[in-house]
Amino acid sequence: MSTGRVTIADLKQMKAEGRKIVMLTAYDAPLAHFVEAAGVPAILVGDSLGNTVLGYENTLPVTVDDILRHTQAVVRGTRRAMVIADMPFLSYQVSNERALLNAGQLIKEGGAQGVKLEGGKQTVTVTAHLVDAGIPVMGHIGLTPQSVHQLGGYRAQGRTLAEAEELQSDALALERAGAFGLVLESIPATLAQKITESLSIPTIGIGAGVHCDGQIQVLHDLLGLNPHAVHPRHAKAYAKLGEAMRAAVNAYVQDVETGAFPTREHSFMLPNEVARALRKETLISASDED
Ligand code: KIV
Repeated sequence: MSTGRVTIADLKQMKAEGRKIVMLTAYDAPLAHFVEAAGVPAILVGDSLGNTVLGYENTLPVTVDDILRHTQAVVRGTRRAMVIADMPFLSYQVSNERALLNAGQLIKEGGAQGVKLEGGKQTVTVTAHLVDAGIPVMGHIGLTPQSVHQLGGYRAQGRTLAEAEELQSDALALERAGAFGLVLESIPATLAQKITESLSIPTIGIGAGVHCDGQIQVLHDLLGLNPHAVHPRHAKAYAKLGEAMRAAVNAYVQDVETGAFPTREHSFMLPNEVARALRKETLISASDED
C-alpha cells in the first residue's frame, strides 16, 4: 500500500523522464507546509539546522535528537513530500550498528522516509548496511560540511584532476552500495554533469551547476532569513524575509512603547452592565464601556 508520499521510485522515475527534482530543506511544520504547497517533492531536514535555527557556527554540534524533533515537525507539517532526515556528525561513523540504530530512530520515531549521510568511499559500507536493513540512503559528496576542519573551510571541491576522478569513483561506489540519490555540493558544473550522466540514480546539486537531476537549497538562504547576511555563492535569495521580520518587530516595539498597540480592536471588553457595576466599585475606567 502506498504511504501517500513521494517515494524513491518516484524520484528515480523523474530522472528517467528528465524532470527536474526540486528539493529544499525545512526544519519546522509551518515552513515545511509552505514548501510542500509549492510542489516540492522531497524535503531534507538538514543538519544545516545547526546554523539556520540552533545558532551554532557549524553543523558539528547537531545531535540525532535535534534532527529527530525537527523531522517529526516537518512530517507533521506535510502529507505528500518525501522527508529525508540528515544523519548528524558521528551518528554513522562510529559503527554500522550505531548507524543503524540512529537511522532507524529517524525512520521509526521521526517518520522520515530516508536518511542522508556525508562522505565518499568511506561511507560505502555503512550505506550498504542501512540499505540492507530497508532504509533508503542518500549520499552527499563534494563539499561535506561535517568535514569542515579537515577540508580547511567551505571551499569548492573536485577542481584538480585527481579530486575530480576521486569524486566520480565515490559517486559510482555509492550507487553500487544502494544509495537512492546523491547530493553534489560545491563542485564544478562539468564534473557534476559527468557524474550525473554516469549514474542511474538522481543527483541533486547545490553549487554544482545546472546539469544535475535536481537542485537543493537551504530554505533560509532562499528566503533571505540569515541574520548575519552570510550569503554562500551557490545560494540565491528569492525574498528578504529577514528585513521584513526586522521591520515588523521594530514597528511592534515602537507601537507598544508609544501606546499605539493594543487598540480596542485587539482588546476584550466587558458587557456594558458588568462594566457599569464594576465602575460603581471604581475598579475600572469609563473608557472600558462599549
Ligand atoms: O544540511 C543540509 O542542509 C544539507 C544540504 C545543504 C544539502 O546537507
